[in-house]
Amino acid sequence: MALITLRKLLDKAAEGQYGVGGFNVNNMEQIQAIMEAARETSSPVILQASRGARQYANDTFLYHLMLAANELYPELPIVLHQDHGSAEACKSAVDMGYTSVMIDGSLKDDHKTPNSFEDNVRVTKEIVEYAHAKGVSVEAELGVIGGIEDGAGAGDMKSEYLTDPDQAVEFVKETGVDALAVAIGTSHGVYKFSKKPDHSVLVMDRIVEIHKRLPNTHLVMHGSSSVPQELLQEINQYGGAIKPTWGVPVKEIQMGIRHGVRKINVDTDTRLAVTAAIRKFFVEHPEKFDPREYLSEGRTANKKMIAERMKAFGQAGHAEDFK
Ligand code: G3H
Ligand code: 13P
Ligand code: ZN
Repeated sequence: MALITLRKLLDKAAEGQYGVGGFNVNNMEQIQAIMEAARETSSPVILQASRGARQYANDTFLYHLMLAANELYPELPIVLHQDHGSAEACKSAVDMGYTSVMIDGSLKDDHKTPNSFEDNVRVTKEIVEYAHAKGVSVEAELGVIGGIEDGAGAGDMKSEYLTDPDQAVEFVKETGVDALAVAIGTSHGVYKFSKKPDHSVLVMDRIVEIHKRLPNTHLVMHGSSSVPQELLQEINQYGGAIKPTWGVPVKEIQMGIRHGVRKINVDTDTRLAVTAAIRKFFVEHPEKFDPREYLSEGRTANKKMIAERMKAFGQAGHAEDFK
C-alpha cells in the first residue's frame, strides 16, 4: 500500500469512530516495534518524527528507515508525519516526501513564549498553502501544551493556555487545517500529574465542547502517554530513579475518541518501555555486551506496549479500510 496522508487516514477514522496513535520515532528499533505491532493488530500507522528526531538520526537516515517500513509492510497504510514543526521544518518535510506536517504555531520562535492568535493563524496559513499545494496534510495547534512547551507540568497549567472553543472555530475557518491539536491540560514528558488525574486537571469537557462546535475537524491529543505504573516500578527496581508521576489514563483517551479525537500522540510510554526492558537486561546479564541482545529486548517490550495502545484506541483491524 502506498504512503497515505493524515487527512485520508483521519477521515476514515472519523467514519469508523476510532483513534489512531501517532508514535514518535528516532531509530530503527522504534520503527520496527511500531510496524510489528501494526502488523499483529492490522492497524493503520502514523510514524512521526520531531525536529530533534530528524537531527538525532540524520534526516536521510530517518526518512529512508520510514520508507523501508513502507516497503516491508506493504499491507499497511502509513502516514509519515513531522511532529511539532517550525515553518522551516514543515517545508523541508514536505519537500522531502513526508505526507503530513504539524505546524506548531502556538509558540514564538524561542519555542517557549506563547504566540499571539494572529501570528499562529498567519504561520499556519502559510504552511497550509505550501503543504496542500503538494498534497500534504497539516495539523496545527491552538493553546499551549505543557511540558516541553512552557516548562510546566499539566497540574500547573494556566487556564488561559487551554484551547478556547470560540477561537478554535475561527482558527479552523481561517487556516483550513486538516487536524487540530487542542490543549486540555496534558503535558509532554514523564512528569504530567502528581496524582492520578481527575476532571479538575484533565479538562476533557473542552474536547466535548470543541467537537460540538467543530464536528468535522479531526482533533489531536498531545502529551497522551499513560505513564504505566508498572513500567516506572520496573525502571526503578533495576536502578532507575524516576520520581512518582502519573499520565493520561487510557479511559480518558477513549472518552476523547468518542468526542472527535482521532490522533493520539505517544512518545514517553515508548521511551519507558524500552528503558525498563534494557535496565532489566543489564542487571540480569551483567556479562553481556552485544547491543543486539539488549536492543531487541527494548524493541519487544515497545512492540507489546504499542500493540496494547493500538487495540485501546480502536485502530486495530482497520488497516483493511484502505484497501
Ligand atoms: O512532542 C514531543 C515529543 O515527545 C518529541 O520529543 O523533541 O525530544 O524528540 P523530542
Ligand atoms: P508524551 O510525552 O505524553 O508521550 O507526548 C508525546 C507527544 O505529544 C508528541 O508530540
Ligand atoms: Zn506533542
